[in-house]
Amino acid sequence: MSSQRHENTDVPPLTESIAPGTATDPPIGSDEPSTLTVDGTTVTVSASATLIDAIEAVETEDTVPALCHYDRQDIGPRSECRTCMVETDEHGVVPACSFPATDGLEVETAADDAALARDVNLDLVLSDHNLRCTTCGKNGRCELQDAAIENEVEEPRYGVLDDRDAYEPMDDSSSFIQIDRNKCILCNRCVEACNDVQVEGVLRMEGQGQDTRIGFQSEAETMADSTCVSCGHCVTVCPTGALVEKGIEDATTIPLPGFTQKNSIGEAYEQSEQTDGPMTPKKRAEATNEHNDSERSSSHRTDGENDDGGSWP
Ligand code: SF4
Ligand code: SF4
Ligand code: FES
Repeated sequence: MSSQRHENTDVPPLTESIAPGTATDPPIGSDEPSTLTVDGTTVTVSASATLIDAIEAVETEDTVPALCHYDRQDIGPRSECRTCMVETDEHGVVPACSFPATDGLEVETAADDAALARDVNLDLVLSDHNLRCTTCGKNGRCELQDAAIENEVEEPRYGVLDDRDAYEPMDDSSSFIQIDRNKCILCNRCVEACNDVQVEGVLRMEGQGQDTRIGFQSEAETMADSTCVSCGHCVTVCPTGALVEKGIEDATTIPLPGFTQKNSIGEAYEQSEQTDGPMTPKKRAEATNEHNDSERSSSHRTDGENDDGGSWP
């Protein structure tokens, strides 16, 4: 959608060779300040504001996560995650981050359809995320973690990424930035920071469907081999532990025997007999039951018989 919008505007390319993000899209919204209501509260927002600006200006009934929204600079809106859905009187359920604020619009954050859409989309994001928060350098300062806590997610309805065969190796090749794609939520912020703000043209989204990942415009395989100049802007805007500054990647890790942030997706975890605990409460309970069942069947063996049914020496 964004490339189509570029074709239809006079926005010049940043350089001949860099693929931009959506930050160079033309402004959306009204040319004038708009006055609208959010959960019954009247608010006036500036020209080109979106609904998220109005939502952030008032006390809302529900929290609205907005995971791919980044308002500290001219990045986006991206409309990637759809965790920011709200209901409007005129247009139904819309993404607040990119929907223009217009005069007279009535916005409801707690409307059933909008709340369900936010919940489902947040669970979808969680379902494709490595939730090993205790060994993550962003533990305690992660926007996805905050959103899950604020929205009282106890068990994501689509599970979590716990198929270790699907894990991608961490890219630890750069001296400055560590990439853990298993924690990437494909919000696109880093791509825009790199291309549209720093104008370095290093990062891009590549692949399709569940194979979509952040990669390099230069076709490099690793960060070290890419054209990255280590400015760190992508790390600053990343909402999760997918991009972390080297040297502080373990800063908020909770020490666990045998676990480090680096091996939390690697062999040490997989080989441990004690660490096959899944992340969701349901799976944890199932695993505990299995464990108890196996303990019970072991305790029922005949005296002198070992786990394999043989005899102790
Ligand atoms: S650190 Fe490298 S990849 Fe990140 S924004 Fe800067 S140039 Fe781009
Ligand atoms: S690496 Fe971070 S900023 Fe980039 S797309 Fe993934 S989650 Fe978003
Ligand atoms: S914050 Fe609106 S779609 Fe992600």
